Amino acid sequence: MTAPVRLGAIGAGWWATSNHFPLFAARDDVELVGVCGLGPDLPAIRDRFGFGFATESADELFDAGLDAVVITTPHDLHHPLAARALDRGLHVLCEKPMTLHAAEAWDLAARAERAGTVFLVPYGWNYKPFTVAAKRMLEAGRIGEIQYALCHMASPTRGLFGSDPTHMLERWNSETAPDPTTWSSPARGGGYAHGQVTHSSALLFWLTGLRAATVAGRVMDAGAPVDLFDAGVVRFDNGALGSLSGAATLADGDKYQVDIRLFGTEGVLMIDVERERVTLSRYDGEREEVAIAEGEGEYECLEPPARFIDLITGAATENNSGVDVAARSVELIEALLRSSAAGGAEIRVHD
Ligand SMILES: NC(=O)c1ccc[n+]([C@@H]2O[C@H](COP(=O)([O-])OP(=O)(O)OC[C@H]3O[C@@H](n4cnc5c(N)ncnc54)[C@H](O)[C@@H]3O)[C@@H](O)[C@H]2O)c1
Repeated sequence: MTAPVRLGAIGAGWWATSNHFPLFAARDDVELVGVCGLGPDLPAIRDRFGFGFATESADELFDAGLDAVVITTPHDLHHPLAARALDRGLHVLCEKPMTLHAAEAWDLAARAERAGTVFLVPYGWNYKPFTVAAKRMLEAGRIGEIQYALCHMASPTRGLFGSDPTHMLERWNSETAPDPTTWSSPARGGGYAHGQVTHSSALLFWLTGLRAATVAGRVMDAGAPVDLFDAGVVRFDNGALGSLSGAATLADGDKYQVDIRLFGTEGVLMIDVERERVTLSRYDGEREEVAIAEGEGEYECLEPPARFIDLITGAATENNSGVDVAARSVELIEALLRSSAAGGAEIRVHD
């Protein structure tokens, strides 16, 4: 057997301890070298998951001879930490939103290309069998060229973005509440667009290969510290038109909505995680429905960390959420927020 992947972790809060660390700790092809975070809980987290050491210094972790790093910090720290990791030639699992600004996102894309390492942003829906089936249909040209794309998401996250992160705990059955500033601080990139529309837009961009050219948008905080509602009119590089929609205020216990409807020159493909359906309707009369197991539409993020390790070891070859997909999501969301701040004017997403 080859040597295990020497993994370091930066950020050891709610998401890292409830999703990533149990998955990595259960694998015998991963060695948990060290964990970096802030606060008094860190030694207990080190012991619980079997990390070799705990530190508050990212430098100390980077100097520990790592192969790979998982970054699960607040959003605004993703770019500087991922840049440093890539410059050291490490494989990087970087949480969403990959960065808060387009320039930072494409900077990471350039560094990742130079490093030649695996870079994956854990977008759970990009790894579901039914979205993979939809992607294959699109790649086979089953709807022709995309002319219109609808991309909607809604989540039961009123508390998370409205400063009561304990609200999420019942749903996720986790013991550690996230620091409220991670999700609801404007200065740290909180809000529904960076926090959740990042998922639906990254799914859209991975599925279709589209890239946004311009956006005119409005976001609304409805009294919360950050945006709860997002709406945008998008033009894509290929000339297609699109509408982007996000709402943070589903009722507790309701299923997430991610609804992507793609209208092409030869037919229509609809992907709906809430109703768990993927349907293709071609203008020549052909129809196809993807069989989806009950509950498969629910959000979970088990496959992305596993795929990250498998890509490093060579056990897998397909990255469904690489740096380029994440960068196209970041640049759209940043432009949407800028457009809204400019009163809804249509602005360019990239040069
Ligand atoms: N992919 C997904 O489905 C998914 C789901 C939930 C959260 N996330 C992402 O995970 C990230 C963390 O979210 P969370 O809810 O766990 O937040 P959290 O507030 O619970 O955890 C943040 C962690 O970062 C650490 N940290 C803060 N500043 C640091 C610094 N300077 N150096 C080192 N560590 C530092 C904190 O000590 C804490 O351990 C966010 O980017 C979020 O968007 C992704």
